[in-house]
Amino acid sequence: MQADPFRGIPNTERLAAGIAALAAITDPEQPYTRRPFTELFQRGRLWLREEMEAAGLRATLDAAGNLVGRQAGREDLPPLMIGSHSDTVAGGGRFDGVIGMIGGLEIVRSLKELGISLRHPLEVVDFLAEEPTDFGVSTVGSRGMVGSLSPELLAKTNEQGRPLSEALAELGGRPEEVPGQVRRRGDIAAYLELHIEQGPVLDQEGIPLASVTGIAGIRRFNVIIDGEPNHAGTTPMELRRDALVAASRFVIESELVFRSEGNSVGTIGYLQISPNMANVVPGQAELIVEMRSIDPQIIDRIDERLHQKAKEVAKERGVSIKMDPLTDATPVQADPRLIEITTQACRETDPRALVLPSGAGHDATQIGTIAPIGMIFVPSRAGISHNPAEWTDMEDIALGVQAMARALFLADEAF
Ligand code: GLV
Ligand code: MN
Ligand code: MN
Repeated sequence: MQADPFRGIPNTERLAAGIAALAAITDPEQPYTRRPFTELFQRGRLWLREEMEAAGLRATLDAAGNLVGRQAGREDLPPLMIGSHSDTVAGGGRFDGVIGMIGGLEIVRSLKELGISLRHPLEVVDFLAEEPTDFGVSTVGSRGMVGSLSPELLAKTNEQGRPLSEALAELGGRPEEVPGQVRRRGDIAAYLELHIEQGPVLDQEGIPLASVTGIAGIRRFNVIIDGEPNHAGTTPMELRRDALVAASRFVIESELVFRSEGNSVGTIGYLQISPNMANVVPGQAELIVEMRSIDPQIIDRIDERLHQKAKEVAKERGVSIKMDPLTDATPVQADPRLIEITTQACRETDPRALVLPSGAGHDATQIGTIAPIGMIFVPSRAGISHNPAEWTDMEDIALGVQAMARALFLADEAF
């Protein structure tokens, strides 16, 4: 065996082929879209399942719709877990989530080829629907795995009035069995996720790797603004209760709140008005506001300030504004031992590796509520993500896979 066998990981051609294969299973009209619960998503999953089996994993779909590929290990030990997600946002990129999945499969194959075995069983997981769904819920599968996919969330409906539970069942999940399959503390030895940074730091610094200290929390509200639909030609300006104008004020006021807080970001990325007609004063506006920070107190403070702003705008514009909680993922810290392990693994791969927090949300946020988690980032060119222009050089992804293989090996010894 060579002095450092991990230098032989990955097979970059095989890794690139896997990423390209999933990129080809996306919407040609809107690259690189593969929304969960669609036929395309299922095609991607079929391909992934075959790849899992070809890599020697036993593939199953759990009750919450996660595709789990398992490699046996010592049966008295809980599994180590690696993975990410194969769904995308609409108009997303080729790498978000995908490199964690394809990288995971590559690690399984490479370790086997190098004759490196793990003590623990290993699970490579494609978590269902990490991105926000049409049901208003995100990280569906990882929530399900840890017991945070409540009956209320499963009952949430999409625009067609279809509940999430039904979509999950159609995909092969078993909503009624989700509570019985919940994993508890001790059921997962450690969870590791390889992901693109989705921010600008590594690219700016020209450094290919970072270990991750923690993941920002995300709180979202569905905001319904009720004014009064009326004739656009006959309703005097001072008598209008225009829901869109109120929504616009709320958007601007919210942005001022987000800007005035440090160490956080906030976005209103969804807006629908009705009746959405050129000659009708908008009667209703629905928007989704999200706030993110690594500090839970900052999220609470932004939440409070937005509720206050909603009251002020409602009064000023003569509308009602209702803010319903959608989802709330509290910030999680990576496990201190896994920070050490991922940092060591990254530095053995490239001594310049950084240590960073994650502004993006991940399945690791959910898994972190019951198990030690750690993450490794590779650069996103110009920090662009959730965009078809998302890009990471294959060379950097390959270094990420190598670092993750090292981290997995170290975690296998330490946990
Ligand atoms: C996940 O992609 C997120 O919204 O951070
Ligand atoms: Mn994403
Ligand atoms: Mn992602």
